[in-house]
Amino acid sequence: MGETLRIEELDVCFGAHVHDVALGSLSSGTFASIREALLEYGFLVFPGQHISLDEQNTFAAMFGPLEFPAAAITNIDDNGEVLSDEGHDTVKSIRGNEGWHHDSTYMPVQAFGAVVSAEVVPPDKAPTGFADMRAAFADLDDDTKIMLRGLTAKHSLYYSQGRSGYLPTPNDDGSYAMYGYHDKPVPVRPMVKVHPETGVENLLVGRHAHEVSGLSEDESVALVDRINEAACTDDRVHYHQWAVGDVVVWDNRRLMHRATEFDLSNPRRIWHTRIAGSDETELAENYR
Ligand SMILES: [Fe+2]
Repeated sequence: MGETLRIEELDVCFGAHVHDVALGSLSSGTFASIREALLEYGFLVFPGQHISLDEQNTFAAMFGPLEFPAAAITNIDDNGEVLSDEGHDTVKSIRGNEGWHHDSTYMPVQAFGAVVSAEVVPPDKAPTGFADMRAAFADLDDDTKIMLRGLTAKHSLYYSQGRSGYLPTPNDDGSYAMYGYHDKPVPVRPMVKVHPETGVENLLVGRHAHEVSGLSEDESVALVDRINEAACTDDRVHYHQWAVGDVVVWDNRRLMHRATEFDLSNPRRIWHTRIAGSDETELAENYR
């Protein structure tokens, strides 16, 4: 049985701030309530937590196995220097992520979600945008809903980073040494995903989506762009203004998210722990 949380809903159609919990020392009852709240709101913010990376990984692992433990999303290099130009691969990755996306749709298994904490926040906050693809699907007209239910798309980081002009520096053999650039089959996913826990339909599109089934390349690009643009507007979008010590968690089976441009001359470091999706429900169609 869960415990009652002090929830402050956002003024959009999803998301909430959660107060009066300590993520570093959660009881099973409090965690059960947090998990329930995540399914209801899709996005939870826990201000002022200041947890360690071990505590962050432990919290994330309460939701399920990790795809990977805390990894820095940052423009600070290993020597503590600020990478202020776009030529660095880590910065290219950040810039590419300014397009709306679900995490790991380009991998065989789409992610369940992620826990992210903020360690170094620049003056402009480097907000992260979140958008509710459950509401976005619900708000489509019936003809579009019926059309999308019958379509699939391929998802690839080669495609999305290439299109935005932010592919990393290649190895001598032309391959890339960064996460997500695999040479397995390009995952094929439905454009409408039934959420495995709520049973509600969600749009599944984003910047990694391309080669929609049955469409020409031009038609495919036009459809994906149109759906992404229509989905990520109005009260379906919220930008989180980071503060040091914040922890957020989101349901990647429901929400899209995006980075925003910030002044690269200022250091910024957030830590991303990715929670693995279930093989049962998040495996790409062509891997089944
Ligand atoms: Fe992401």
